[in-house]
Amino acid sequence: MAGITRKRGMKEQLSVKHLLGIKDLTVSDIQLIFDTASNFKDVINRPIKKVPSLRDITIANLFFENSTRTRLSFELAEKRLSADIINFSASSSSVSKGETLIDTVNNILAMKVDMVVMRHPKPGAAIFLSKHVDCKIINAGDGTHEHPTQALLDAFSIRERTGTLKGVKVVIIGDIMHSRVALSNIFCLKKMGAEVMVCGPVTLIPKYISELGVKVENDLSKALNWCDVANVLRIQLERQDIRYFPSLREYVMMYGINKRILDKLKKKIILMHPGPINRGVELSSDAADSGHSIILQQVENGVAVRMAVMYLLAGRIN
Ligand code: CP
Repeated sequence: MAGITRKRGMKEQLSVKHLLGIKDLTVSDIQLIFDTASNFKDVINRPIKKVPSLRDITIANLFFENSTRTRLSFELAEKRLSADIINFSASSSSVSKGETLIDTVNNILAMKVDMVVMRHPKPGAAIFLSKHVDCKIINAGDGTHEHPTQALLDAFSIRERTGTLKGVKVVIIGDIMHSRVALSNIFCLKKMGAEVMVCGPVTLIPKYISELGVKVENDLSKALNWCDVANVLRIQLERQDIRYFPSLREYVMMYGINKRILDKLKKKIILMHPGPINRGVELSSDAADSGHSIILQQVENGVAVRMAVMYLLAGRIN
């Protein structure tokens, strides 16, 4: 395809037809996405940011759940690739009149759409859709299950800073139980050779998580002293059916990260957050805006990574 340069002999195809979760990707797939994203990052830093790679490809962005970063990042990535796009959000659609997911998507596909980017509150929604409709599906977050492009952009951002993921110690902190970002990050980082720890209140860490090959730590100070990278998650109150800790104030006392805590560490760690941040809860403003933070670089890399994913999946349309 036009617009980006490729290394000689580089594998050009993903092993998967859809991006439903990191679980399905091989190490070579992830490497190929990273190499392609690096090329696209060069492209989007040029004065002319647009390439014709997805001209004549039509992509539908279907958001059945709120989003700021993921929706805008996909939309910008699609525009940079010259795709035609249509946007759908459940709140202003006929879903509220009782239309099913398959009927909604099939009606959109009847308008000759090649690829669907979907966020949905139900775990497995993207997998379900991929079995029932005839187009490429990209999971933009399905309930508490997976958020594959977030994990790819997180790992890409770490690799950009450290030069490798092999042996890098990453702790994921907070509401592991309700987080699709945590699960996708664990799959991605483990596949790429990183060491992964999860840290949070015992009630917010799934009982069998160590079976995924991750360390478990409930003491924030021990976790921060162990890691090279801390990826801090939001408490997902909207997905919690019961109270998992006594109060937010207590959570902040035990697991809130501020600049004083970071400055006390013997080394400088990298601080990440997928957004949206609850400032004053999991991160104080002086930590989120400190020199440790690569939060805005994550957002910048998200566009390049999503361009790479759509470009590579579109390569399988022809
Ligand atoms: N990181 C992330 O998924 O953010 P949004 O919910 O704003 O898309």
